[in-house]
Amino acid sequence: MAYLRGIMHCIGTGVVMSVMSYDAYKAAFLSWNSIVTEDPRRLRDPSKIVLAPDVIVALRVLQKYYKLFILAHQPSITVEVSDSAQIAHFHEDVLQRLAHYGVQVEQVISYVKNSLHPFIEVAEERRLDLPGSLCISDRSQDIKLAGQVGARGIYVMSRNSTQTCPDLPPDSLIVVDIWDAVLHAMEMHLIQHRQPALSDIERAAEILREGGIVAFPTETVYGLGANALDPMAVARVFEIKRRPRFDPLIVHVADPRQVNTLVSQLPGQAQKLINLFWPGPLTIVLPKSDRVPDIVTAGLSTVAIRMPDHPVALTLIRRSGVPIAAPSANLFGHVSPTMAEHVYHQLGDAVDLVLNGGRCPIGIESTVISVSDDEAVLLRLGGLPVEELERVIGPVQRHIRTQASPKSPGQLPHHYAPRTPLVLRDRNAPELTRRCGLLSFTEPTSAEGFVAVEVLSKSGDLREAAANLFVALHRLDSMQLELIVAELVPEVGLGQAINDRLRRAAHKGGIGSTGSREVSDESRA
Ligand code: TXA
Ligand code: MG
Repeated sequence: MAYLRGIMHCIGTGVVMSVMSYDAYKAAFLSWNSIVTEDPRRLRDPSKIVLAPDVIVALRVLQKYYKLFILAHQPSITVEVSDSAQIAHFHEDVLQRLAHYGVQVEQVISYVKNSLHPFIEVAEERRLDLPGSLCISDRSQDIKLAGQVGARGIYVMSRNSTQTCPDLPPDSLIVVDIWDAVLHAMEMHLIQHRQPALSDIERAAEILREGGIVAFPTETVYGLGANALDPMAVARVFEIKRRPRFDPLIVHVADPRQVNTLVSQLPGQAQKLINLFWPGPLTIVLPKSDRVPDIVTAGLSTVAIRMPDHPVALTLIRRSGVPIAAPSANLFGHVSPTMAEHVYHQLGDAVDLVLNGGRCPIGIESTVISVSDDEAVLLRLGGLPVEELERVIGPVQRHIRTQASPKSPGQLPHHYAPRTPLVLRDRNAPELTRRCGLLSFTEPTSAEGFVAVEVLSKSGDLREAAANLFVALHRLDSMQLELIVAELVPEVGLGQAINDRLRRAAHKGGIGSTGSREVSDESRA
């Protein structure tokens, strides 16, 4: 109960309380009006409620940092929907639809005017950190209630609000829609975690606006970013990375609505994938609009777009005000960076700023898929297992590109390579007379003859293995070894993407080919 000390005596007094224990959760209290597109006061049939796709994605972002609660004001909701069974049905229906999209609402809090403070009881039951929580609503009354318990209020100016400039507690924010609210909420989360500081992200955003280049963390790998709408800035990315101009870049957005300006058409299947998998490690290739410069897409009529699942990346894109074109922040053909140190090591001073956001949690690049009305083609295995995609849109064609069709050069056979020669471990064990390192999936039964061993996951967890893969490769590569022997992992889920990287790192890396590792630009990606 320590976490509630100070709450109870604030009831009715408007006193802000600030005591909270370390193990409490932060909550986001949302009014119905801030998430549904209809005015619930005029609802006769709950099934008529429309959940806008971008609202679903916004809530999926928000729930990563806050537990979600919906505030139901009984009098307003019951004007047309009168009995309590109907109201319960109404709540259940919306909650189920949100759950289908992976949005988990903890509870609908019903309250009537002048009843007990709606947040207090819930906070006690759920061990909520009220001062760390926030309230997103289009009712100034809710924002005031939030202020009474020390929670931050975010007032959404919806079409239903009557007041344009309501009387709000002094630290409240006023935003135009739920997306704005969610991105602010994420910034609050970042302020608390302080790595990197919000002021550094703002500086990075300014650099991007002025045509500069910033390396930034995403949930997959670090990206080397430029304003996607500025061809000169994008040209610098190609130069820094020494990437051939035929290899198009991914454009990163901070919310799904940004996609509309970048594409000429958004097929239904693509919208379905966005609704379910963004933000996340999924890049979707779509017909491009004229707004996207040709240099970004290497002259193709399509553009690859993704919304990263990382608070630093999303805040950077939002604050810069432009979509960000970014390949992985490594030299062309080399191992992707999953730590800021990897970026410094490979690109050094060539970049205007490197935002350090710690280690990338997924650790392997995004899955790339091209989607049209009639077909979906997998262009790169990656952080979202293909089985998950197929569960939603049915069978996906696998397109293995060759050097004869280098439109998606990430598919070229030689890629993701450390400088040290790498071979795959098989029955014909290599002669270990030289300085050899072992890259093992789980703890090896024998590491005899190896001077260094990297274990990807002691417990055999493929997610952990993916997150460790590039870090382990970077480490082995820095040890002046003569050979890296890598073991393949089980070929399921993320294992397919891991093995894809290992096979391509090993391409040309046979025991007899430990001489020069330099390959021509045409064979790298
Ligand atoms: O996780 C990721 O995807 C990271 C982070 C930074 O977002 N980015 C990344 O970018 O891996 P990059 O440039 O290293 O790989 C992008 C891949 C390349 O294989 C490229 O050929 C392909 O996406 N690609 C980009 N635009 C394309 C398009 N219009 N059609 C087909 N393939 C495309
Ligand atoms: Mg790359």
